[in-house]
Amino acid sequence: MKVLGIETSCDECAAAVVEDGRKVLSNVVATQIPFHAPYNGVVPEIASRKHTEWIYAVVKEALDRAGLAQKDIDAVAATNRPGLLGSLLVGLSFAKAFAWARNIPLIAVDHMLAHLYAPRLAHDAPPYPFLGLLVSGGHSIICRADSFDQITVLGTTIDDAAGEAFDKVAKHYGFGYPGGAVIDRMAQSGDSDAFRFPLPNLHKGEHRYDVSYSGLKTAVINQLALFARKRRGAEEAASANSSASAVPSWTSACDIAASFQKTAVDILLRALFNAAEDTGLSTIVAGGGVAANSYLRARLAERNDLRCVFPPLEFCGDNGAMIAGIGYHYLSRGERSPLSVAPLARVMGFKKKYP
Ligand code: KG4
Ligand code: ZN
Repeated sequence: MKVLGIETSCDECAAAVVEDGRKVLSNVVATQIPFHAPYNGVVPEIASRKHTEWIYAVVKEALDRAGLAQKDIDAVAATNRPGLLGSLLVGLSFAKAFAWARNIPLIAVDHMLAHLYAPRLAHDAPPYPFLGLLVSGGHSIICRADSFDQITVLGTTIDDAAGEAFDKVAKHYGFGYPGGAVIDRMAQSGDSDAFRFPLPNLHKGEHRYDVSYSGLKTAVINQLALFARKRRGAEEAASANSSASAVPSWTSACDIAASFQKTAVDILLRALFNAAEDTGLSTIVAGGGVAANSYLRARLAERNDLRCVFPPLEFCGDNGAMIAGIGYHYLSRGERSPLSVAPLARVMGFKKKYP
């Protein structure tokens, strides 16, 4: 079965064709980053307008690269939650029109479940149950996965998402947008012990699997104010013929990136390892944009007692292949979405409970 997958929940306009949930025949991602970069964040109105302009060409490109015509597609899957409402509406409406015109099934899928499915596009599926680590620009979820569509959320962020923290720190320091990949790169030239940033006090009781990023974000941003004060002092000293230099230099910027990244990953891993210990689950499947982080991957690789499965980099960020891939499994169960299915801004239906 050849499924066309459409993803427009945020700032990537993406479409793909996947056969039988595994074989990626094409995967087209048109990123809007250059249009949002001047604002250091996604502007919802620009995002939905760009999706509207691009969606036809992106879907056509996905069909062309797969060497298929519209009539060769057996079903359409599209993200309908969670995400920016205007952006979701474009991809979902396009998928509805495609399904209606071709008289083929439509399936609306959850973006976060699709991120958790993404490693299956490249690896043999680890048996259920396993622990899921879902880390993106909008969500941080640690869950127990019992099947492709049944997860129990064990922990989540109590404030900012992991990717959001990378993006906000990068924004304040002027490192670039989006921040995750930039900080990851800069951190490779930095000293992760140069600055000590605090871990949240969340390792006990009902928050044992939760994460929090607002304290870390504030501490890292406050460090910028310290730099500014030092710079002013240095400039005053320089005007008095001193040899003192201005900060932050490139080196200290990389040190900030490395120290922030280490703490951000420590926060995630502390909650994740608590969950692994308490549930006895030793397989971890990661997904979402932050799962591309090289330091997170290296730290998890050190744990010989845990099996960690990551998607290839091309399937970490938002893409249509993960939508088509998970869509196939609903369709094979005989499920269909009505053409009246609506987009939803928030995650729905994950029961939060503690083991
Ligand atoms: O899954 P995704 O593409 O979109 C959402 O569903 O939000 O995730 C985007 C997030 C952004 O916050 C971005 O900064 C972050 O993933 N990201 C990274 C890396 N690459 C992307 N964060 C840390 N390290 C990376 N290498
Ligand atoms: Zn995503």
